[in-house]
Amino acid sequence: DQVEKGGFEHFMLKEIHEQPLTLRKTMLDRINKENDVVFEGLDLTPADFDKIYIIGCGTAYHAGLIGKNVIEKLTRIPVEVDIASEFRYRDPIVNDKSLVIVVSQSGETADTLAALQESHRRGAKVLAITNVPSSTIARDADYVVPTMAGPEIAVASTKAYTAQLITFYLLGIYLAQEKGTLDDLYRVSLVQALKELPMQVENILDDAYELKLFAQSIKNKKNLFFIGRGLDFAVALEGSLKLKEISYIHSEAYAAGELKHGSLALVEEGTPIIALITQQDLYEKTVSNIKEVKARGADVMGITLEVNVDLFNVVDEVCFIPKTNALFTPILSVVPLQLISYYTSLALGNDIDKPRNLAKSVTVE
Ligand code: G6P
Repeated sequence: DQVEKGGFEHFMLKEIHEQPLTLRKTMLDRINKENDVVFEGLDLTPADFDKIYIIGCGTAYHAGLIGKNVIEKLTRIPVEVDIASEFRYRDPIVNDKSLVIVVSQSGETADTLAALQESHRRGAKVLAITNVPSSTIARDADYVVPTMAGPEIAVASTKAYTAQLITFYLLGIYLAQEKGTLDDLYRVSLVQALKELPMQVENILDDAYELKLFAQSIKNKKNLFFIGRGLDFAVALEGSLKLKEISYIHSEAYAAGELKHGSLALVEEGTPIIALITQQDLYEKTVSNIKEVKARGADVMGITLEVNVDLFNVVDEVCFIPKTNALFTPILSVVPLQLISYYTSLALGNDIDKPRNLAKSVTVE
């Protein structure tokens, strides 16, 4: 067991640390010398579909929320994201002009497979993003884009999520390229920023001391909030899921601007809040939401870009992430959230790799 864990105490920590490598592997052969994104055998013509659906469960669904943002921004094709168990029963408007992207680490999740089959019945083409190319979902899909995360053992998904994200980035750039709407200089800058991500994740992993201390400070709390806007909100959802799964502490992710419509009532003296604030165009907006919770006594940990040193004036603690293209911050900002969950669960003495009531792969409805 110790050998399999490569010297790490748990598979989850090992898998968190494997992310620089799995990002590199997932990008390998997808970028040519001219900095074009290539997908051999993927003969997708964006003009053939007028809408994209992204479907998954759990962490895969959260990756889809980022995927929507990226694909819409780069291609201007409308994208809807659905939880597989909702999609399959809601009579979705899917037809032969739709591209359905199913996302599944295992490739065996029953609801995601059923959503794929429902999409086929309605005439759509289905592309699977999966970590297991021999899986049922990969076999049934029309196109398969494998994530190269390697076997993921811990129930709480980490490296599969970031591999799914980088796949969405590549796919978004590819679709925009094929559509002919992507400016060459912009494409090159995007691809160069992608290539820097593995090293940037390494830098975050090398400096986890503050996150361990933060984990100690929240381990006995009953309730916690994650807030953010835009892409930061999508990452907040994933951070909250990670914490729930392995620490059993209740948490909620909220769109920062929506707090005052309800959840602000739950904020009191000492409520911990993790605020993601990586989107520079929304920075001031989120700062004003942070001030609202600070005024009610919350303890706020901010996760932001290194350039935003002035965030120290507003929050109690700051975790800095390196600068990248605004679309790509989720790959960096999720890493401290994974580590916070891990160290909180470790401090509580929980069974980190096999949390109670949960399974790695849900093959029944
Ligand atoms: C389970 C796992 C999660 C995972 C979800 C979807 O709930 O515990 O980590 O995100 O299933 O799994 P999939 O294999 O389809 O990505």
